[in-house]
Amino acid sequence: MREILDLGVADLKFLPPATVLRELRRELSKINLYPSGDYLELKKAYCDYLGPELAMQPENLVFGNGLDEVIDLVTRVWGGVNLIPAPTFNQYSRAAMRSNQRAVSVNMLRHGRYELNFDSKDLRRATLVWVCNPNNPTGDLIPRRKIESIIESSEGMVAVDECYFEYTRETVADLVKECENLIVLRSFSKNFGIAGLRLGVAISRPENIEKIEKIRQPFNVNRLAEKAGVIVLRHKGEYEKIWQKVLKIGKEFAAEVERIGFRTFPVNANFVLVDFLSENKAREIFLKLEKNGIKTYPGWGEEDFEGNLSRHIRFAIGAEEKMKLVISVLKS
Ligand SMILES: Cc1ncc(COP(=O)(O)O)c(C=O)c1O
Repeated sequence: MREILDLGVADLKFLPPATVLRELRRELSKINLYPSGDYLELKKAYCDYLGPELAMQPENLVFGNGLDEVIDLVTRVWGGVNLIPAPTFNQYSRAAMRSNQRAVSVNMLRHGRYELNFDSKDLRRATLVWVCNPNNPTGDLIPRRKIESIIESSEGMVAVDECYFEYTRETVADLVKECENLIVLRSFSKNFGIAGLRLGVAISRPENIEKIEKIRQPFNVNRLAEKAGVIVLRHKGEYEKIWQKVLKIGKEFAAEVERIGFRTFPVNANFVLVDFLSENKAREIFLKLEKNGIKTYPGWGEEDFEGNLSRHIRFAIGAEEKMKLVISVLKS
């Protein structure tokens, strides 16, 4: 059977460092034990990771079974009217649906580019506003000033999803202490390569975190994920090289795609969005890639993104030779 190259799901296409895997293997002998439940060791490790400038305490953090679960929990606490800037990650509206809430999806594409601009009336009415930075699937970075003005103008909670933070280092986590209506979300999937173990985190003021702590299941993060979180943070220096490599491969891939004559979006994470300039062309290329064993995310696929990107395909960034294979199919 021919091997499928999966550039659809944007998990990390590189294995964690060997030392991480070795340390994690030792934890297998203790899976008869429950997780800690208070996740204190992990919380302390993440406070250290956030750095002394932020001076976060364990009370500022809550972990979840992947960021997907954290999104669900945030929606259950603050949702009601959920304001979503499309095209973006689809789980904000899916979480609203799962909780029988209203999702108000607003198109942010202007002349083919993503420009986050909420109407002030929408901001006042929403109980929960979503901002994805950098945005999945467009890759755009949201200017800090823009996020600050959304926080100022919102009556409800503003959730800033920084799932791809490690690729850009852009954050508003430093505003958490002064802004009572801000919650910042991060994941361990795209950066630390443990998507299969499921680990995500929310950073906010203790009174907000307390609301989530009250409704989460007692052992929502499994024992291996809990331990893995601590281990990967100890090895962040080794991961740094992987993130730089991913960005470099992604930027080279985007430049090649532009040379062929298609438009690419900014590379600020482990994926690249390509505008194939016509719906027919995009569909033709999607099928051609599929025929060549290359799986990608079509912008028009209902399962994947909130909003409609009818001429676009998102490519997760894999090893250099895999991206060269994609280029050769695009050229053929
Ligand atoms: C923007 C964004 N937020 C959250 C998630 C979910 O991450 P996790 O694997 O931690 O559930 C993803 C995964 O694709 C994502 O792209």
